[in-house]
Amino acid sequence: MAFTKPIQSTISCNSTSSKQRPLILFLIILISFPLLFLSSAFFPNPQIVDVSTYRRKKVKPPKWLRVILEAHLTPYETLRVGLVNFKDPKRSHLNLGGAVEPVTIDFEPVSSNITWEKLFPEWIDETNPEGWCPEIPMPQAGKFSRLDVVVAQLPCPEEKVEIDINGNRRKAGMRDVDRLQISLATAHLVVENGVDSQDKEVYAVFTAKCEPMFELFRCEDLMWHKGDYWVYKPNLEKLREMISMPVGSCALAHPYGGISGTISRQLQASTNELPQELQLLRRTTPSTYTPREAYVTVLHSSEDYVCGAIALAQSILQTNTTKDLILLADRTISHHSVLGLQAAGWKIKRIQRIKSPNAKSDAYNKWNYSKLRIWQLIEYNKLMFIDSDFIVLHNIDHFFDYPQLSAAPNDKWLFNSGIMLLQPSKCFFDNLMSKRYAYKSYNGGDQGYLNEVITWWHRLTLKLNFMKFFDKEGGARLVPKDRYTVHFLGTKPWLCYRDYDCNWDRQDYHRFASDDAHGKWWQVYDAMPKELQNYCGMTIKQDRGVRNRKARAQNANLTDGHWKIELKDPRQFNLVESL
Ligand SMILES: *[C@@H]1O[C@H](CO)[C@@H](O)[C@H](O)[C@H]1NC(C)=O
Ligand SMILES: *[C@@H]1O[C@H](CO)[C@@H](O)[C@H](O)[C@H]1NC(C)=O
Ligand SMILES: *[C@@H]1O[C@H](CO)[C@@H](O)[C@H](O)[C@H]1NC(C)=O
Ligand SMILES: *[C@@H]1O[C@H](CO)[C@@H](O)[C@H](O)[C@H]1NC(C)=O
Repeated sequence: MAFTKPIQSTISCNSTSSKQRPLILFLIILISFPLLFLSSAFFPNPQIVDVSTYRRKKVKPPKWLRVILEAHLTPYETLRVGLVNFKDPKRSHLNLGGAVEPVTIDFEPVSSNITWEKLFPEWIDETNPEGWCPEIPMPQAGKFSRLDVVVAQLPCPEEKVEIDINGNRRKAGMRDVDRLQISLATAHLVVENGVDSQDKEVYAVFTAKCEPMFELFRCEDLMWHKGDYWVYKPNLEKLREMISMPVGSCALAHPYGGISGTISRQLQASTNELPQELQLLRRTTPSTYTPREAYVTVLHSSEDYVCGAIALAQSILQTNTTKDLILLADRTISHHSVLGLQAAGWKIKRIQRIKSPNAKSDAYNKWNYSKLRIWQLIEYNKLMFIDSDFIVLHNIDHFFDYPQLSAAPNDKWLFNSGIMLLQPSKCFFDNLMSKRYAYKSYNGGDQGYLNEVITWWHRLTLKLNFMKFFDKEGGARLVPKDRYTVHFLGTKPWLCYRDYDCNWDRQDYHRFASDDAHGKWWQVYDAMPKELQNYCGMTIKQDRGVRNRKARAQNANLTDGHWKIELKDPRQFNLVESL
């Protein structure tokens, strides 16, 4: 059996001795003449492939192929199967006579000097639209056409196992360039063969000891999985969106609204200079149509961030957003706080918090995995998660045009989970939950975990997530004008007095100190109605903490001299028992 080139002959012809040939030929002509007459009227090609083909030919199909044939309503004429990364194509078990046509997909292997760090650099020059992405060779476009199925043998490099603080064995995320290349090549072939032909379905099959990249091949599209076999019927539009992204965070992601994003933008812009196809869509789309998209934040375990979330909602509303605002709150958030959060603009959903598997008891991040619940909001198509220690300075609605998972970079090859674009999905959530004991979070929190599970992500501009962090002492520490948000690292503004940023009161927090950023948060506060400001009171304990640090800064004679500033903030005279 040779599978490297398409099989032309059928099994029955091969196994027929030469003496029998005239007789058989005669019979064939006799039988096929009326058949031909009939079939040429109804079927353009008499050879069709469905499950019964196997029964007739008495061959045992690979199980994944049965799954596809059974799921596929109309029989195939011939089934063209692309084989990606088959070291030994004979072992693909595709023997179905001439009915299945295996096609060996060849492309250059990726150069061995391309590492994950080169695909996901810590920093890029964002003014270069091309970025600096190394080349990952793909199958030549147009060379492999009319494929019905793409089967890939996916390498599963040994996952690095580390021992965490509790002595448990945990995996580090898989970051393997060969694996990425084969996954992307499969995705390209599926899209190329399916997207332009009406109603054509193209399947992707992986033979792999480990799960295929679920960043590319969505769990919703997984039809069947058993042992080493994974069969997908990919949503072609979604897959096309993914392969239109750069191969790594080596370039900025491209916006891709698809139909819904484009329509909503165009409707909002209310311009008549629409491309023809959109004008048509516009006529058939009710003017109230908006994709279900929302900003979402999470509060859990304490009420310390209630004021932060109120200010965040107010800052987003000040940009005239058209999206919903959703806040997930666990039971530690009181009814009183919920009323304030609702008045600020959030729709509230109650959740049960999720414990971080590796957190020590009483650790500050003990319940940080609660953030995973955002994937359960399946009534939305797209969400922008945003931490409660942010404020938004300019409208960021257009960032909804980026796919899951898009985020701004952190350090090394990691993204910052303070702002993330994501697509809610039940199976994705289940997947994240089921892996949480197996994967190590480098910082015990959700950011560390998400970065180990979702290793292929899309880079958004640093301007979207301005982390208030200054390496060098001194300097003006201004928030540049073009930043969309401020992410308040260090001590939060509402846990300080407004007179100055109390990150100045500790030498080791100076890197978070910025009077300009502090002032921007208080501008949002000033614009809030009084009833919302009341949620930003300081407790007696918080007040004592601020004053103690101020006194210590004075004793240490810190040179920035902020401790000399007299506290005038009226909140100091209205301390609250609790929020
Ligand atoms: C990687 O190897 C290729 C040849 O395989 C070479 O052309 C290229 O310059 C190398 N790149 C780096 C960054 O070393
Ligand atoms: C929001 O809308 C109001 C009322 O239409 C307008 O006055 C204001 O300038 C808008 N704000 C922004 C940031 O576009
Ligand atoms: C965990 O959550 C807390 C409170 O929401 C937050 O301050 C902290 O940054 C989070 N930590 C990590 C590591 O994600
Ligand atoms: C504090 O520092 C200033 C100059 O930075 C110096 O003049 C002053 O004597 C110092 N005070 C004390 C109490 O050390």
